[in-house]
Amino acid sequence: MTKFRSYKGRSRQCDDLLKTPNGSDKQSQVKLRYSLGKEAQKNIRAIDGLLREGKDYDKVYSIKLPLEVRSSSYMNFDSQELMIQDVLEALKNDKIDMVALCGMGGIGKTKMAKEIGRRVKDESLFDKVAITVVSQSPSLTKIQGELAEMLGKRLDAENERVRANELYSRLTEEKKVLLILDDVWKPLDIEAIGVYHAVQEKSCKILLTSRDKEACNVMRIQKIFSVGLLSEEKRGIFS
Ligand SMILES: Nc1ncnc2c1ncn2[C@@H]1O[C@H](COP(=O)(O)OP(=O)(O)O)[C@@H](O)[C@H]1O
Ligand SMILES: [Mg+2]
Repeated sequence: MTKFRSYKGRSRQCDDLLKTPNGSDKQSQVKLRYSLGKEAQKNIRAIDGLLREGKDYDKVYSIKLPLEVRSSSYMNFDSQELMIQDVLEALKNDKIDMVALCGMGGIGKTKMAKEIGRRVKDESLFDKVAITVVSQSPSLTKIQGELAEMLGKRLDAENERVRANELYSRLTEEKKVLLILDDVWKPLDIEAIGVYHAVQEKSCKILLTSRDKEACNVMRIQKIFSVGLLSEEKRGIFS
């Protein structure tokens, strides 16, 4: 865009000159118009060049990642990076459908889960990523609604079972969805939500974060990663 010069102000100057009856300004008018014409020519050449460059790109891709997952301020720490790599490996494994990040509050689980969501999309490991915060007192209908909406479907039904069926249908329409269930406090009934059968049928995988390893065991999460404290030096960045 810097290739273009703004000549809005200068054309206004030219208009003003045109309004002045004073003959001595006629010469300035001609000069200004001449230089504006030259610049217009240059701009046309620049536009032509850009149009030619644009022909090399046959498609414009939109990332369509939920805003919640776009963790722009993520800082890359070695310890977290190693774990992220391991989680990505686990998510690539056909035999693993459910993965959890466990650890005390404030340790960075949510941040890491969002970063993983961003990377799986970047690396095209999954077609879609949907995230919901489960919280201490989860509302199944809210979880169903949020996940479905992030996949572009509005659930109109009020009944939990009907919503579960609708969410299941939406999930199985996709080849691969990563569902991030953030902040799970107690075992969550993923069958009642409408997710369990979609996981069984390999349409989606689950990445959850929790403070409670036991809740993850009850949910039969196959791979649980313990998120530990960052080193003193790195913790200093947040204090
Ligand atoms: N890698 C990181 N980059 C930037 N900020 C981080 C990172 N890890 C943790 N944080 C910050 O630390 C705080 C706690 O992280 P969070 O992911 O919410 O923890 P948890 O989910 O385990 O409770 C947040 O303010 C978060 O932004
Ligand atoms: Mg959290």
